[in-house]
Amino acid sequence: MSRLVVVSNRMPLGDKPSGGLVVALKDTMEERGGLWVGITREDASFTGAEMPRSQGLENHPGGPFERKSCSIEASLYDDYYLGYANSVLWPLCHGRTDLLDLRLSFREAYLEVNRQLADALARELRPDDVVWVHDYHLFPLADALRRKGVFNPIGFFLHIPFPSSANVGALSNAGELAEWLSSYDLVGLQTNRDVASCLEVFRTLKESEFLMDGSVRYRDRTVDLKSFPIGIEASAFQKIAQNAEPLPRAAHGPQKLIIGAERLDYSKGLPHRFKAFGHLLETREELRGEVSFVQIASPTREDVQAYREIREQLEQLSGSVNGRFSDINYTPIQYINRMIDRNRLAGLYRHAQVGLVTPLADGMNLVAKEYVAAQDPSDPGVLVLSNFAGAAEQLGDHALTANPYDAAQMADCISQALSMERAERIERHSAMLENVLNEDVDWWASSFLRHLEDKSMGTDFLS
Ligand code: G6P
Repeated sequence: MSRLVVVSNRMPLGDKPSGGLVVALKDTMEERGGLWVGITREDASFTGAEMPRSQGLENHPGGPFERKSCSIEASLYDDYYLGYANSVLWPLCHGRTDLLDLRLSFREAYLEVNRQLADALARELRPDDVVWVHDYHLFPLADALRRKGVFNPIGFFLHIPFPSSANVGALSNAGELAEWLSSYDLVGLQTNRDVASCLEVFRTLKESEFLMDGSVRYRDRTVDLKSFPIGIEASAFQKIAQNAEPLPRAAHGPQKLIIGAERLDYSKGLPHRFKAFGHLLETREELRGEVSFVQIASPTREDVQAYREIREQLEQLSGSVNGRFSDINYTPIQYINRMIDRNRLAGLYRHAQVGLVTPLADGMNLVAKEYVAAQDPSDPGVLVLSNFAGAAEQLGDHALTANPYDAAQMADCISQALSMERAERIERHSAMLENVLNEDVDWWASSFLRHLEDKSMGTDFLS
C-alpha cells in the first residue's frame, strides 16, 4: 500500500495557532496515518551572502503519524510567509488587490522556499508515495519537484478562494500561477465558483487545451480541476458539544447569545459584523439588554500591517457599540482577542441562539459547519451565513444568507434568527446537519484521494 505524504506550510507542532487547514488535516492524518511534512522558521540569524541550502527534513517523533519539517532560515522565511504568501497571495485570493505588496524579494523568497522544500522532499520520497500538497504557500511545489525528476502522483488542494482572472492580472508574473498548477495531477478547490475561476485563469494561457472530461492540457501535462468542499470531523465535534459544560450564567447574563469565532483576519468581515450588530441595537430598542454578541477573534499574522490595522479598528468599533448601549448588567459585545480551547468553543456554539458567519471572502469556513454540528437538534440555533463563504454552496439554502456589506440587511437577518419559531429552526438545521455529517472531513479526503488514484491509474494507496 502506498504511503500518503501530506505537505503544507503549517503543521501541528506545539500549540501554535492553527486555522482550518491544520484542524482538517490533523483529523485526516490521525485516521489514515502517513507522513506530514511542514515548514518551520529557523531562528538563528543568517549572515551569509548566499541563500542557505536545504539540510533535509527534521523528524518530530510521537503521535499517530510521522511528522517532518523543513527548516528555513528566518529572513528568507519571513519574505516567503509574511511577504509573498500573506502580503500578495492571501490578499489576491480574497479580492484585496489594494493590499498587494509586489516586492521582487518576496517572490524570489517564495520560489526559493518551494525549491528548498522540493529538494528535501525529493530525497525523502519513495517511488510509490502519493503526495498531497496544501494551500497557497506551495503553488509551485509540484513544478519544483518535477524538475528534480519526481514522477509520483501529486495532488494539490487550495483551502482559500481561487482568485478571479482579472485579479490574477495584477500579479507581476500573471501566467505563472496556471503554469505551476499544470504540474499537479489533480487540483482540488473548495467550490464550483473556484473551479470556474481557475478555468478562467487557464483560458488566459494560449497553450491551454480544454478536454471533454473537464481537465486541462497545458504543454505536455494534463491536470484535473474539481471541487471538493472540505468538511469537519462532524460526529466527533457533535459529541464534544453535547458533553460541553453549560455556560456559567454570568458569562452571558439573561440575554440571548450570538456567537462569532475566527482568526482576526480582514477577510472575515468583522468590522461589518460589529456595525451590523450596532445597527440592530440602534433600530430595535427592545433587543437592548436582551441580546449579547460574543466574538472570539484569535490573533494571527501580526507582523503584517493589515492585520495590526484591523485589530485596532475592531477595538474602536466594539468600544463604541459598548459605550453606547452598555448598562450596569449588560455588555452588548464581548470581544475576546485570543484563542480559546476547542471544548469551550463547542459549548459556546451549542448555547448560542445565532451563529454569525459573515466573511467578505472565504474558501469554505469550517466555523459554519462546526456551529451546525454543535446544535441540539431538538432546539437548534440559526446559522446566519454570508454568500461569500464557500460553505454557502452547501448550506446556503437552509441557513439565513446575509450580505456582509449591508449592515441593515444583516441586522434584519439576525433579528429574524432571534425570533424564528422552533419548527422552522429544526427544519433548517436538520437539512444542514445532514450535509455536515455526510460530507465530513473523511468524505472530503477520501473523495480527493480516490480521484487522484483514478487519475494516476492503478495506484493502490487507498486499499
Ligand atoms: C487559513 C489557511 C491555512 C493557514 C491558516 C492559519 O486557514 O488556509 O493555510 O494555515 O489560515 O494561518 P497561519 O498563517 O497561521 O498558518
